[in-house]
Amino acid sequence: MTVNFPKWTNQLPAIAALAVVGGGLTVVLAVWYFFSPEFTDVGYMPHQPIAYSHKLHAGLMGMDCRYCHVNVEVGPHATVPATEVCMNCHKTVRTDSPEIQKLAAAHDSGMPVHWKKVHLLPDYAFFNHAAHVRVGVGCVSCHGRVDQMEEVRQEKALSMAWCLECHRAPETALRPTDRVTDMAWTHDPDLAQRLRDEKQIAPPTHCSACHR
Ligand code: HEC
Ligand code: HEC
Ligand code: HEC
Ligand code: HEC
Ligand code: HEC
Repeated sequence: MTVNFPKWTNQLPAIAALAVVGGGLTVVLAVWYFFSPEFTDVGYMPHQPIAYSHKLHAGLMGMDCRYCHVNVEVGPHATVPATEVCMNCHKTVRTDSPEIQKLAAAHDSGMPVHWKKVHLLPDYAFFNHAAHVRVGVGCVSCHGRVDQMEEVRQEKALSMAWCLECHRAPETALRPTDRVTDMAWTHDPDLAQRLRDEKQIAPPTHCSACHR
């Protein structure tokens, strides 16, 4: 279940500050605010330095996520591709475009493109992509329909409550491992339950699993 707080809850820090006079009320509001999923930037969509589109490359062109996010099945970080990966095609494709000229200039200068991070957990929370992707949790469960996004935005709260909701019922998210990048996969409850039982999937809920 996702709780959608109304827009005015964005004002809560200010309200909480005003409520200092109110003593106890402040505590209630502060606790409510900091533990609410809204605190974690759902909808955050920073403007990127080059107008790269997932909708075009991953959606229309059907490129697999792993062509660029090469580490997602093997390590903690999915990684964002170096300019070389883009230049495999853009050495020749659309060299007349100003956006591709920016890309080529970065490539020639040897400087990485400074992509802005969209998803970011606090340092005190441990996360590992491989541990999820390798047991059959698809990208879409945590990132939404990236293949339909012109610019990537944060779709899920990434809050502790959100992590735990799935950890308590992983069968709500499992699929065969060869389908993890299939963004249009339809959930099959019986298959998911069978996969959970067969692989004895039991995500941790004890504090030290995520706070090491
Ligand atoms: C052609 C290369 C390429 C492909 C294919 C690709 N991506 Fe990306 N991805 C990027 C680049 C470059 C960025 C950084 C710029 C941005 O955020 O748009 C990125 C960013 C992201 C981010 C945000 C990272 C952050 O900062 O939090 C997510 C999530 C993501 N990609 C998921 C996917 C998924 C899911 C697929 C497959 C459906 C996919 N990508 C396919 C190149 C690619
Ligand atoms: C169980 C949830 C989950 C799944 C499944 C998942 N991600 Fe992520 N992803 C995250 C979280 C959480 C972060 C932020 C990590 C951080 O800040 O340390 C993230 C960050 C990223 C980033 C930014 C770079 C990085 O590694 O931090 C990219 C790119 C990305 N994910 C792509 C993907 C792709 C592609 C897939 C599917 C093959 C995928 N993710 C599957 C939760 C998930
Ligand atoms: C597999 C080949 C391939 C790869 C790899 C690739 N692209 Fe593309 N890209 C294309 C094609 C094809 C188009 C569409 C060209 C057209 O409009 O006809 C395109 C279009 C674009 C455009 C829009 C250009 C414009 O002005 O219309 C941008 C920007 C872009 N790509 C950036 C990137 C970046 C950044 C990467 C690396 C993260 C990348 N591409 C990787 C094939 C690729
Ligand atoms: C959509 C479901 C889902 C979500 C959301 C999710 N997880 Fe998991 N998580 C799993 C599954 C499935 C496993 C694998 C359990 C197994 O292998 O028995 C797992 C395993 C783990 C593990 C143990 C593996 C290891 O590397 O030690 C950690 C830690 C973890 N998750 C952290 C997180 C954090 C932090 C978040 C939130 C940012 C999160 N997870 C969100 C499903 C999920
Ligand atoms: C499945 C992973 C996971 C487990 C298990 C987990 N946490 Fe967390 N926790 C997180 C993540 C992710 C955040 C960061 C949420 C955010 O950015 O708001 C967090 C944040 C926190 C915070 C900061 C306040 C907040 O909610 O933002 C506290 C305190 C905390 N956890 C305590 C605990 C305790 C105590 C336990 C054991 C009962 C525990 N956590 C178990 C993932 C986990």
